[in-house]
Amino acid sequence: MKRVFVIGAAAAAAFSVSMAVSAPQKPAGADTQLPLKEFMGHVMDRNAAQLWRWTAYEIDEKGEHSGKPTTELEWEEAESDALTLQQLTLLVENSVFSSDERWAVHLAGLRAAATASADAAERKDYEALEKAGNDVNDQCVSCHLTFAPDLERQPDP
Ligand code: HEC
Repeated sequence: MKRVFVIGAAAAAAFSVSMAVSAPQKPAGADTQLPLKEFMGHVMDRNAAQLWRWTAYEIDEKGEHSGKPTTELEWEEAESDALTLQQLTLLVENSVFSSDERWAVHLAGLRAAATASADAAERKDYEALEKAGNDVNDQCVSCHLTFAPDLERQPDP
């Protein structure tokens, strides 16, 4: 874990005390929770793509490209991407589908796969990172098949 040293904590505390005197006002847009479709398309998908980038392998005319983390910082970034995904599952526990008990089960499955990805990155275990990344994908697909099957339908050839 990285440590962040806070300088001037006393000054910050004094500031928040003086702020508390006047009635706090919520900034405009403070209650914005995205509809599920927007959350999936903009937040969940993007973060999963970041995680999968670390295990992507491509061959093009310029040669082979592996996304494999090589430096201490890159492994740490892979761990951060996995933990971000893990935390995102908590944001959609309440959704239009929550009354169906399968919703929480699918979310828990994704959370476990994201946690396994984070553990693998912390141990710098590339094989385990690949395996957990595939499991993340399986969990996305499995929930879609239950709640939004059209998403996983293959386009006609
Ligand atoms: C717990 C269930 C669940 C899990 C897990 C899940 N999704 Fe979804 N996802 C949905 C549902 C339901 C929709 C359809 C929402 C709608 O159209 O209202 C959806 C829609 C989407 C869409 C389409 C968004 C659009 O603009 O139409 C994408 C992309 C997506 N999910 C990506 C992912 C990825 C990537 C993962 C895994 C990292 C994932 N989802 C995990 C339930 C889930």
